[in-house]
Amino acid sequence: MTIHRAPPVDRHTSGLNHPHPSEITPQAEYAERRAWLARSGLAGAGLLAASALPGLMRSAQAQAPARPGKLAALAGSRSNVAGALVMEKPTAYTDATTYNNFYEFGTDKSDPARNAGKLITRPWSVAVEGEVKKPRSFDLDELLKLAPMEDRIYRLRCVEGWSMVIPWVGWSLAELIKKVEPTGNAKYVEFVTLADPKQMPFVGSRVLDWPYVEGLRLDEAMHPLTLLAFGMYGEVLPNQNGAPLRLAVPWKYGFKSAKSLVKIRFVEKQPPTAWVKAAAQEYGFYSNVNPNVDHPRWSQATERRIGEDGLFTRKRPTLMFNGYEAQVGQMYAGLDLKKNY
Ligand code: MTE
Repeated sequence: MTIHRAPPVDRHTSGLNHPHPSEITPQAEYAERRAWLARSGLAGAGLLAASALPGLMRSAQAQAPARPGKLAALAGSRSNVAGALVMEKPTAYTDATTYNNFYEFGTDKSDPARNAGKLITRPWSVAVEGEVKKPRSFDLDELLKLAPMEDRIYRLRCVEGWSMVIPWVGWSLAELIKKVEPTGNAKYVEFVTLADPKQMPFVGSRVLDWPYVEGLRLDEAMHPLTLLAFGMYGEVLPNQNGAPLRLAVPWKYGFKSAKSLVKIRFVEKQPPTAWVKAAAQEYGFYSNVNPNVDHPRWSQATERRIGEDGLFTRKRPTLMFNGYEAQVGQMYAGLDLKKNY
């Protein structure tokens, strides 16, 4: 996600090919993993008969990340939303929490885990304003109770060419939107994130125009797959992953999923987002995952799944809308996806 140079090299491309510590499962964690899988409906009689996918089930049971036990537990029930539970092996918790993009804390992948520890995430509130009949501010504790928490397992595809599979805990943003009643003028939703230079050492750096702002069309924001996430891997979000709440929009490049939200604004015009302002020719407002539309400086046809073999190569074909075409494709009927990248 850099403007003037190729995506940064990380430890996954640095030549290490021995097992990462997180890939070795201590006995004590195994039972916990099974419990997590059971809660998510992946163990036993899950979405698909285990007999239909024996290899996948075995590998998920053996390797799905455990709750690390350091943060407060956040339980969800299995989501019934179509497409919300991807049957792919979740990324190791250690990888998902040490290989991050959160530029407020630095531009190297390891910076957020190192620098975000002191972010104060309580008290926290989110102002919901603009073109709504009932504008108001929500305290975090209210948001945690606003709708039942659901477990969802989403692919995450970064525009840089890597991907992960993350088990989130949260609820559809639509639940919040219904409460504030958008007016007929609301066409887009703007998401504003915390920009506090006292807590965030890179806010003020010239890499982006702060605060980090993202946006969705109202119908995209209302789509049941658009998640307001409060947790991952059965726990509250670690700071580096966007505590205390963030978006997870699985069919779009990861940068659309803004972290540490403080304001949600309903507007009539397409909001100017941080990455469009930084480099509109490289990062479009839509940013739907699309293997047929390359980034000006690299192909988007394939991706490197973090934690998989083939550390130097992009082995996986990237899927249209990141594999969520059946659920979201209709929203873009008639839209030229090459122009509206
Ligand atoms: N949100 C904020 N506030 N600041 C950021 O720098 N980076 C984005 C997105 N949300 C970013 C952000 C990018 S580029 C990606 S790929 C995802 O967060 C990464 O999420 P993860 O670190 O939890 O994998």
